[in-house]
Amino acid sequence: MNTKRLMGAAAATVLALGLAACSGSGAGTETTSDNTNTAAPPAADVTIGVAMPTQTSSRWIADGAAVESGLQDLGYKVDLQFANDDIPTQTQQIDQMMTNGADLLIVAAIDGTALSAQLQNAADKGIKVIAYDRLIRESANVDFYVTFDNYQVGVQQATSLLVGLGLLNKDGSDGDATGPFSVELFAGSLDDNNAYFFWDGAIDTLQPYLDDGTLVVPSGQMDIEQAAILRWQQETAQRRMEDLLTASYSGDLKVDGVLSPYDGLSRGIITALQNAGYPATISDGFPIVTGQDAEIASVKLIADDVQFASIFKDTRKLAAQAVTATEEFLSGGEPTANDTETYDNGVKVVPSYLLESDIVYADNITSLLVDSGYYTADEVASGVAS
Ligand code: BGC
Repeated sequence: MNTKRLMGAAAATVLALGLAACSGSGAGTETTSDNTNTAAPPAADVTIGVAMPTQTSSRWIADGAAVESGLQDLGYKVDLQFANDDIPTQTQQIDQMMTNGADLLIVAAIDGTALSAQLQNAADKGIKVIAYDRLIRESANVDFYVTFDNYQVGVQQATSLLVGLGLLNKDGSDGDATGPFSVELFAGSLDDNNAYFFWDGAIDTLQPYLDDGTLVVPSGQMDIEQAAILRWQQETAQRRMEDLLTASYSGDLKVDGVLSPYDGLSRGIITALQNAGYPATISDGFPIVTGQDAEIASVKLIADDVQFASIFKDTRKLAAQAVTATEEFLSGGEPTANDTETYDNGVKVVPSYLLESDIVYADNITSLLVDSGYYTADEVASGVAS
């Protein structure tokens, strides 16, 4: 379907009619108003390029699989690529997708500012671009954004930290604990727009407790630049936690809690704390560590009373939104946004569809993750997704 990218709006409508005819009546041709017969492009001739950041995180593997199968169920061809968290690899993959005839792109960027040339090329060819979970910045050529309410994710991360410390109850009422508690703060990769939203939501939630001294940060590292972990790397988080322990914790001073914005970072932080001799379980005094993504290895750590919480973002729902938006674009329409204010990418506010997330604690793993079919009980028990 290389040629249709060059077609204008009228022709796109014909394509839309064709696709509708394919999936609806099953008719093979469509007669346009000027009475020319146009072959209806079968969905099987439409290719969607799907660019995912990495396979080192089970979350993105699940996203890739869910987007791919959702599109294939509708008959589309899918060119799914993972970029090993390497920016040049991702830009080359996207270039290649277009060379190979992609008709629409779904992109979860590694560096949200690094894709302007690719997106300009896409726009020139009439290829719509859907930003997947991570906003693509500094480009007018982002047509739609599907994601979660990222500020709210940060609020939930901080809330889970406060619950773990006993400062809040799960129903939002004040807990019995009084503190003061020693906590350390981690942020995500600063080339990922989401990192700022998670941080802002978390810090706004923690600020009153920091202000009144209930929470103290012994390292003093309270700026996002100090807390950030480039490319969300587990090893980098482990090293930073080791450095914090060495530099700021001596004598009786112990870490009570760690704000971590992603399960991979949490596992690095947990390893550093374990190596430093902290007790094995939270019940025995292991620090409260938060997370995000409900990755299977971390869900097991939560079940085992090692990690306190994670944030469940149902990748099946996000993938379904991306597929819906794809269909709407391909049929000549505009996807339905539920937020047209929040996500300014530096050039324009990108119309967005935001989904909700949930806090995972040990006591709701079954109801949130197993009963919904996201994981089986066996996967939770083994910590490995099959
Ligand atoms: C996603 C998070 C994920 C992080 C690291 C972010 O853009 O929104 O769900 O934890 O990337 O992969």
